Amino acid sequence: MNPDFFLHHFEPGGEVRAPVLLLLHGTGGTELDLIPLARQLAPAAPVLSPRGRVLENGMPRFFRRLAEGVFDEEDLRRRAAELAEWIPVAAAHHGVAGRPVVAVGFSNGANIAAALLLLHPGVLRGAGLLRALVPLVPATLPPLSATSVLLVSGTADPIVPLANARRLAGLFREAGAEVAHLELPGGHNLGMADVIEARAWLGHVAAGLRT
Ligand code: MLT
Repeated sequence: MNPDFFLHHFEPGGEVRAPVLLLLHGTGGTELDLIPLARQLAPAAPVLSPRGRVLENGMPRFFRRLAEGVFDEEDLRRRAAELAEWIPVAAAHHGVAGRPVVAVGFSNGANIAAALLLLHPGVLRGAGLLRALVPLVPATLPPLSATSVLLVSGTADPIVPLANARRLAGLFREAGAEVAHLELPGGHNLGMADVIEARAWLGHVAAGLRT
């Protein structure tokens, strides 16, 4: 696979031992959307940020949906497999081969990150999922015992029902992941509390991966 299979943005960062931050934007976003967030979360980490290859009325996404919250599972599986294949290729291309990869995704980007964890364990060492839904339920749960997952949900999110986010947290727990699920007052948009919580979580995960 070509490293340019996904149009993407890469920043080398300043810290040689930091995990690579994989940024996954929300619907209608681009590879540049979450860069300011990444710099607040981990100023010195290398950043790999692809743009979703699906267009919905001109808006980039990481997989097709049939309606709000109703996903095209076949497409989701295909796109997750493409992303799983691309990550090590792009990492090698940018000189960070073999470094642990931790995803930070928002909304549609959080959903594809959740699908990556459920379908392609081993690609990500951790994932910060901001406003994620259950993307799909695999027939058998993957072994995720070496994986750290942060879910941050909004208690008044009109797009992500809290019960659905709790179900996702439950799936990850059942798969053996180390899971923290925070339910913040607020809706689908991110706020300062998300930044504070994600930064603390990422610092903890990165410290564990650096040893
Ligand atoms: C999705 O389609 O992945 C979710 O409904 C969230 C969104 O991107 O709007």
